[in-house]
Amino acid sequence: MSDPTFRFDSRSEADTERLGVALADSLPSGAVVALIGTLGAGKTRLVQAIAKASGVDPATVVSPTFVLVHEYSGRRPVYHFDAYRLKDDDEFLALGPEEYFDGPGVTLVEWADRVERCLPAEYVEVRVDVTGANERAFAVRAIGRAYAGVVPQLRAKLGA
Ligand SMILES: Nc1ncnc2c1ncn2[C@@H]1O[C@H](COP(=O)(O)OP(=O)(O)OP(=O)(O)O)[C@@H](O)[C@H]1O
Ligand SMILES: [Mg+2]
Repeated sequence: MSDPTFRFDSRSEADTERLGVALADSLPSGAVVALIGTLGAGKTRLVQAIAKASGVDPATVVSPTFVLVHEYSGRRPVYHFDAYRLKDDDEFLALGPEEYFDGPGVTLVEWADRVERCLPAEYVEVRVDVTGANERAFAVRAIGRAYAGVVPQLRAKLGA
């Protein structure tokens, strides 16, 4: 059986950009992506790349620290949550995430491990590990059958 996790070693921001482009291309509309990784790992950087590849002006993409959720309009909408500063699940649920999850856009949640119980049953998990000053190890895996096509598509586009 093929490995259900797609591993991508990024050696530069340009590599992370390529992953973002491939993800934007592979994610079905309505996809939910859980981004997990330490401070400064590259979660927002990847969101910028996905947003840019979705036709959003990347300069408008910043961490939703105070607003907590941003909506960007591109060829399809991109919804960007950051759970880092949230006190608890209720604070996340008060943002109405279900509406975004069910919407036509792609929903990206930074620090998704902090609100794991609030995520839909099916989503795409992206883990980011810092492996050097400019190196990052990404691991992408589908949680649920709805996203079974994502990893094979990433492999076809990026190899490995
Ligand atoms: N290969 C790489 N891929 C992505 N970012 C990189 C890479 N190499 C260096 N960086 C740098 O790492 C930092 C990643 O910051 P980013 O804001 O994306 O992290 P984050 O995971 O969103 O952190 P936070 O938890 O604070 O939101 C940026 O300063 C970026 O320039
Ligand atoms: Mg961030």
